[in-house]
Amino acid sequence: MAMQQVSTISLLRNTLKQWRLTGDRIAFVPTMGNLHAGHIKLVTEARKQADKVVVSIFVNPTQFGLGEDFNSYPRTEKADQEKLQEAGADLLFLPAVNEIYAKHSMTAVTVPALSKLYCGASRPGHFEGVATVVTKLFNMVQPDISVFGKKDFQQLLVIRTLVHDLNIPVEIVGVETEREFDGLAMSSRNTYLTAKERLLAPELYRAICRAREAVYGGEQSLKSIERQAIKQLTGLGFMVDYFSICRSQDLQPATEDDKHLLIMVAAKLGSPRLIDNMSFAR
Ligand code: PAF
Repeated sequence: MAMQQVSTISLLRNTLKQWRLTGDRIAFVPTMGNLHAGHIKLVTEARKQADKVVVSIFVNPTQFGLGEDFNSYPRTEKADQEKLQEAGADLLFLPAVNEIYAKHSMTAVTVPALSKLYCGASRPGHFEGVATVVTKLFNMVQPDISVFGKKDFQQLLVIRTLVHDLNIPVEIVGVETEREFDGLAMSSRNTYLTAKERLLAPELYRAICRAREAVYGGEQSLKSIERQAIKQLTGLGFMVDYFSICRSQDLQPATEDDKHLLIMVAAKLGSPRLIDNMSFAR
């Protein structure tokens, strides 16, 4: 079946209405385009869990800060359409900025306790932009389920929390991070890496794996494992924003008694800021 494509909310709703009349279960995968295998994994998961799959491509201006890469963010519509068609998406929603944000809109969605930590501390307003656009997209699509990558773990937690707190009737599904052959987490921003930086970039994932082994080993405190990882990454040329071992349920610093942990890292390597994480139980 050919994938449909719409760019207005009213056309989107017309199609969705027909599907709902026949009882179809609808899955939604929001993206900002420049699709890679990580996004396709989300679409494949959506395909497994629903009758119809809606994907949006919208580079959301409100989640980019001043001096960030909103204007230069890679826009690869034609290639994205082909990939989505091949992955079995049923409907692509490709709105313009003024379709999503009315001229004088004043409302924002925010999850303050989660949005000011980690990536939110370095990117003020980022998670408010994400929470607002995702809530708006949920209202437009009204999906039964929505699929997100665990690579953006903090984003996933913000979305799970807002869905719970605002009683939005959608099931949130988190999908494991897709990695390159050498462990680097797939990201649209990897295209900004120079050849030399690309060779170094998997060190982030290696640092996470080493830290997890050290946690399992139980000989060092969590703080000392964090410090060692930061030192190693800095020595390799990364500008580390944070390397943290925290509780996976609320991102608060882990104590020696916590069982469900998350190792999160964000670091700049040249111009791009890379993030990665791993959750595990001990
Ligand atoms: O993860 C992303 O691509 C974006 O943050 C999202 C969820 C599509 C919201 O703009």
